[in-house]
Formats: sequence, C-alpha cells, structure tokens
Amino acid sequence: MPKLVEREMFGESAQFKSVLEHVNLVAPADCAVLIQGETGTGKELIARAIHAHSARSNGPFVTLNCAAIPSGLLESELFGHERGAFTGAFSPRIGRLQSAHKGTLFLDEIGELPLELQPKLLRAVQEQEFEKLGSSQTIRVDVRIVAATNQDLEQMVSERRFRADLYYRLSVFPILLPPLRDRIEDIPVLVRHFVQQFARRMNKTIDGVPQHVIDALCRHDWPGNIRELQNFIERAVLFTEGRLLSPPLPELRRSVVAPSRQTPLTLSEMERVHIRETLEETSWVIGGRAGAAARLGLPRTTLIARMQRLGISRDTPGSRVPRLVMPLAGQMRREDSRPALAHAAGM
Ligand SMILES: Nc1ncnc2c1ncn2[C@@H]1O[C@H](COP(=O)(O)OP(=O)(O)OP(=O)(O)O)[C@@H](O)[C@H]1O
Ligand SMILES: [Mg+2]
Repeated sequence: MPKLVEREMFGESAQFKSVLEHVNLVAPADCAVLIQGETGTGKELIARAIHAHSARSNGPFVTLNCAAIPSGLLESELFGHERGAFTGAFSPRIGRLQSAHKGTLFLDEIGELPLELQPKLLRAVQEQEFEKLGSSQTIRVDVRIVAATNQDLEQMVSERRFRADLYYRLSVFPILLPPLRDRIEDIPVLVRHFVQQFARRMNKTIDGVPQHVIDALCRHDWPGNIRELQNFIERAVLFTEGRLLSPPLPELRRSVVAPSRQTPLTLSEMERVHIRETLEETSWVIGGRAGAAARLGLPRTTLIARMQRLGISRDTPGSRVPRLVMPLAGQMRREDSRPALAHAAGM
C-alpha cells in the first residue's frame, strides 16, 4: 500500500486523528465520499489518500475542478463528446469520467456543478453509465467518485441550488475537515514539517523555532488554513539567516490582532503588544543598529521610558518565552512527531 498519508499528512489534534480514522474506514469501502472544509484545509490531500488506500490505488486518480472550467464546457469535460457535438468540437474527446475508469474521479468544488448537469452525474454515480455529448451510445464505467466543497451543500439543497438526490448520494460518507483555528494542536507539527521541507529545498540549516513564534502562529486565525500556514513558513524560511526560524511576524500580526478578537485592542494595548513582540524578535536587545529601538524608530531612552510606562519588562509573565525553542530535526523522534499517523500507516 502506498504510504501517502504517512508521508504527507501531519497533525496531532483529536480532530485530525478522527479524520484519519474516517479515511481508514472509508478508503477500502468503495463508496462515494464528500469532503467538506474551508479552503486550504487539505481536502485534495484527503481525496488522494482515500484513493491511495483503496483497492483502486493502481488505477487512475483523475481530478476535475468544477469551478475552474467554464460551465458551458463542463459537460464535455466530464462526459466527453463526439465530433461535431457542438461548434468547435472538431474531434471526439474522452471525458474525465471515462479517463477515471477503474480508478477515482475527484470532483473538486462540486458546489459549482451546474444544476442541469447534476441528473446526468447522479446517473453516472448510481448506474455507472452515461452518454458522451452528441452520442446515443451508452458507456459503462467503473469509477469511484470523491467530491469536495467549501460550500455548505446542505444549505444549497434547501435553497434548491443543489439537487437533494445528488447530495444524498454523494454524502453517503461525509468527511468534515475542521479549520486550522479549531485544531491549533496541529500547528506546531505542521510548522516543523514545513520548516524542514522548505529548509531542505532552500539549502538552509534551521534547527529550531522560538517558542514565541509558535505562540504567535497558534494565535493567528489562519483564514487560508494549512495552505496559508505553508506559504507563511516558506517566506519565513526565506527570511531566516540564522539557525532559528525568524518569520516576518508583523505581517501576521496585522491580520491576527484585529479580526480574531471580539473587542478591539486599545491604542496602548496595541503599543504594548507591538513593543513586546519587537523585543522578542530582537531577543530583548534594545539599543544598537539591530535593536528594538532602531526597529521601532525610537531613541533608546524613549523606548525604555515607554516600556516602563506600559509595564513591559523581561520578567513580566510570558517574556521569558522567547528563550525557549522548539527543536526540529535531530532531537525529533518519529513517534513523537506523528503519533496520529500510526493508524494510517497500517491501512
Ligand atoms: N495534514 C496536512 N499535513 C501537511 N500538509 C497538508 C495537510 N493538509 C493540507 N496540507 C497542505 O496544504 C495545502 C492545501 O491542501 P489542499 O490543496 O489539499 O487543500 P484544499 O482543501 O483542497 O484547498 P482548496 O479548497 O483551496 O482547494 C497543500 O499544499 C497540502 O499539501
Ligand atoms: Mg483543493
């Protein structure tokens, strides 16, 4: 069995482990699967894992993103067409459904599938047969459908924007991928994985991530989920010159502080947070060219006075944190880092 899940998917939260258990259960069952989750939560990765751990793993894994193709062309993409089926159809074409014969068809952004195509897809899912555009010959296939969406399909059904029969058929086995902000226990292990991945690619040696960085990453609400985290870490690795990851945290702060709080920060709270984080970034060095005062554009004495006024000192709670570091390779043991994958590995 390919160990795709084990190699590529990381997470330690109970929610993530439960998703893997579901994958474990559903992969060999050969039924349709509907994967729901916000953008960047790993829907495609899960779809690939389901295929890789199914009896179809030697067959093709074919993807069709319903949002990426103009709706007028979707029918032909999905089912194929005969020559002359429509203007511009100069040669016959095999659709993705047929290409996925003996394998899995991953229908991404299924919520974008036009209503008028839905009965034809339902028949293909249910009866495993369909006709190409411009043809009356019925084609039989053996395809497993895995669909994904970041829309609320149930809601769409109630608004008659998605057919109930297709929805029920596809959601025989639903998998819900929670947003990253609801499983922050996954963040450290994902950070570790991405730092190692990008450091290797960029030929850098990074052996730790300061605890205050981990804390800041755990506080961010990641609207773009794992993809956003991955992109952020890529930039962070690029920025890092030493052996400890030094990400552009201010970028994050801009989007974190405001939306994730119910009550907005006051100006002096903002000031306190900003000064404290700058100090953490400079390891509490205040003066000098690379010190916090220079970074904040203040004379050293003004910064010290302001720290006193705001009650910021290295001994205040939380201020010792930057000296802690999450080690990366070397001290990381396999079983420490990926206990959740033990289930998956056995699939
Ligand atoms: N558990 C995980 N461990 C490691 N990497 C992950 C994990 N989940 C997702 N990723 C990575 O995050 C990125 C986004 O994942 P994926 O493309 O599967 O998300 P998606 O839900 O399909 O996103 P979208 O809705 O935008 O299409 C990919 O680069 C993927 O490799
Ligand atoms: Mg996707």
